[in-house]
Amino acid sequence: MTRRYFIAGNWKMHNNTTETKELLTAMKQNFQNINDSEVMVAPSFTSLQTAKEILEGTQIIIASQDCHSEDKGAFTSAVSCPQLKEFVSHVILGHSERRSVFGDTDIVINKKLKATLAHQLVPVLCIGETLQERESNKTLEILKAQLDGGLAGFEEKDLETLIIAYEPVWAIGTGKTASPQQAQETHEQVRKHLADMYSQEFADKTRILYGGSVKPENVDELMGQTDIDGALVGGKSLEAESFLRIINFKK
Ligand code: 13P
Repeated sequence: MTRRYFIAGNWKMHNNTTETKELLTAMKQNFQNINDSEVMVAPSFTSLQTAKEILEGTQIIIASQDCHSEDKGAFTSAVSCPQLKEFVSHVILGHSERRSVFGDTDIVINKKLKATLAHQLVPVLCIGETLQERESNKTLEILKAQLDGGLAGFEEKDLETLIIAYEPVWAIGTGKTASPQQAQETHEQVRKHLADMYSQEFADKTRILYGGSVKPENVDELMGQTDIDGALVGGKSLEAESFLRIINFKK
């Protein structure tokens, strides 16, 4: 089964509206997509309107970096799916920084996933182990628990749009990348678990992105791995030239 590549930029807490305009204008002007990948950017909430204006009429997808699980109410500072729907089609959920800094548990992430799907937004569900977990051979156990918890209560038919992003926490923002072989091995295990949870067909069609220090220098080899279907890029998505090179990876 062919899975369309998906290259995404997670801007995290970077870029005001002026910087957003500059970066997206530079990207748009030089945009080419030799691999016909789906391309997504996830700016901060405050830049979503600007991103929407600049990317109007392009194929570039806009995502939010998180959402709240409720539609509305007394949740100071939170942003709901109905609010986000004005700007985005995709939502990143369960990023490791949301998990470790803001305390998002699998139960919270599961509720957010429910809201995302209820509003026909496409979820990009992040999973990943810490260095300590990898070193104590707990990687698979952790990833399985995150998948089981995050996807609890959903049937295969609910998850047709689901995208998974595997981001080893030890590789995020550290310059350390999982080796292509390490990443491939883990992606294969994640896909196997999806097959066990649902079906082989579901596992075969679900895209699994790799994230963690993806850069122009390592993207080609990573994307060359059988079970890696794209990238979730942090730092290098903030530089137009680097991100464009990543989009145009060479297989
Ligand atoms: P870096 O590419 O900066 O390591 O960040 C990865 C990430 O967390 C993307 O969501």
